[in-house]
Amino acid sequence: MRLSSAGSGKVARSPVHHPLFARCYARASVRAETGLGLAGVRERLLVGLSGRVIEIGAGNGLNFGHYPGTVAEVVAIEPEPLLRRLALEAALRARVPVDVVPGTAEALPVKSEAFDAVVLSLVLCSVRDVERALGEVRRVLRPGGEVRFFEHGRGGGRAMRLTQRALDRTLWPALSGGCHLSRDPVAALREAGFALGPLRRMVLPERGPALPASYCAFGTAWRPDEPEAR
Ligand SMILES: C[S@@+](CC[C@H](N)C(=O)[O-])C[C@H]1O[C@@H](n2cnc3c(N)ncnc32)[C@H](O)[C@@H]1O
Repeated sequence: MRLSSAGSGKVARSPVHHPLFARCYARASVRAETGLGLAGVRERLLVGLSGRVIEIGAGNGLNFGHYPGTVAEVVAIEPEPLLRRLALEAALRARVPVDVVPGTAEALPVKSEAFDAVVLSLVLCSVRDVERALGEVRRVLRPGGEVRFFEHGRGGGRAMRLTQRALDRTLWPALSGGCHLSRDPVAALREAGFALGPLRRMVLPERGPALPASYCAFGTAWRPDEPEAR
């Protein structure tokens, strides 16, 4: 899908355009809901949320069915056109209002301090600029607001970490919609000034050999209470 730039007659390409990856992810992610137990992870990720929530890089909308009724509204940002179309369909089935919006994590198309919570699930691996994206997360969260995250990243022993780095420098990002294996999402949240709550590390799948994308972190982080310096 292409976005037409207002008035110019020119056609602008979506900033994130991975049609082949999007088709594969749409199928594989649905299988992983039961196969890898991700439906249960999503349920735990979102439990207890309330108020206004922004989900960044919502993909095909697999989180939408897990938002509790205490959530007043979800704004779901998704830049990839095919995944966004699937997210729109998922939004119609959700029990809370979900507004699916084009945009990227690095320049969220929403006002500052407008949200009680930000949801990041399997997305910091794929954004172009993690630091900028987390700066935007801070900007749009109200003081004291929370980040719920479920991310994969660096893990395992020395051989696994070397493999992750080698794949990141070669084939992996091109094959996986810009995904990276050796990022450290927890360190990135800490460096961006978030206060980290209890953290759970998990290896998925839980049985069988670990893969380069198996090392996951699940938790909550808070934006400190003081207003943003402007
Ligand atoms: C592995 S998928 C995860 C999708 C979904 N969050 C989930 O839990 O199933 C990564 C998602 O990040 C999105 N993405 C990639 N680059 C992005 C960016 N710069 N800003 C926001 N989302 C991005 C992709 O389009 C894709 O939907």
